[in-house]
Amino acid sequence: MAKWNVYVTRLVPQPALDLLAEYCDLEINPEDRVLTRAELLEKVRGRDGILCLLTDILDDEVFTAAKGVKIFANVAVGFNNVDLEAATRHGIMISNTPGVLTEATADMAWALLFTVARRVVEGDKFTRAGKYKGWGPLLMLGQEITGKTLGVIGAGRIGTAFARKAKGFDMKILYHDVQRSEAFEAATGGTYVDKETLLKEADFVSLHVPLMPSTTHLISTPELKLMKKTSILINTSRGPVVDEKALVKALQEKEIWGAGLDVFENEPELAPGLAELDNVVLCPHIASATWETRTNMALMAANNLLAALRGELPPQCLNP
Ligand code: DGY
Repeated sequence: MAKWNVYVTRLVPQPALDLLAEYCDLEINPEDRVLTRAELLEKVRGRDGILCLLTDILDDEVFTAAKGVKIFANVAVGFNNVDLEAATRHGIMISNTPGVLTEATADMAWALLFTVARRVVEGDKFTRAGKYKGWGPLLMLGQEITGKTLGVIGAGRIGTAFARKAKGFDMKILYHDVQRSEAFEAATGGTYVDKETLLKEADFVSLHVPLMPSTTHLISTPELKLMKKTSILINTSRGPVVDEKALVKALQEKEIWGAGLDVFENEPELAPGLAELDNVVLCPHIASATWETRTNMALMAANNLLAALRGELPPQCLNP
């Protein structure tokens, strides 16, 4: 049987490539970098399916070039890189990878929370620089975590997993979303509050919302001003959920105590001033970056792609 013609826009863990290679003639971007726009437009032509990433901007122009392609299988849960309406118009299926990255992403939000609250990065730099001259009663005091109030914005899979992991720390959990979630409350014991109450009362605010017009700059100057001077903001969702310029100002002026960011408004660029601050910890969008999770994401995407090519409905199809 003839194999399907599939393009992979960037190297992903090998098990997914092996699976695809059983059924497809694969061309893979050999370089570990995002394709240029011109390359993407050229590479999608004449294919049956595309395995793609959140760094590929998929819009009407790409779908026009991709005539005949049945599916773009996105190796990510977030799909703000895709114009879903345009894909549907072109009769192209789009799939994502929900569920498999939930725990890893929630773990990373905790890693950032601990790192900022207990000044781990500052402590590491200080010690390596030979500045540690002995134990000090006021040396690098941080924020206590146990017993504090956790504010979770976004009560979906990742927000729920994040809050569930707070159990060992005897925390009070407040959450906010567009509506109450019984599932969130059952899993975490959290209390639903409006956004303002959450921002005012939480010691740690963690963001777990998808990027949409309604969540763009969900946190900006007014929200940062509502937060406690001792509070910490964690973002592992999407960069534009936070107005990064406003955050830099709030961190410079000590409106809040610190922030942990895995995502940025204009990735990979950082807002001016951000990298100079000691009260922020910055990571390069690695919340799902464990071998296990990235392998499972790529396998899920590969299975979606193969299902579409077989004429089946891919399990994680976003526009059935
Ligand atoms: C996603 O899947 O949307 C993450 O941002 C990358 O793992």
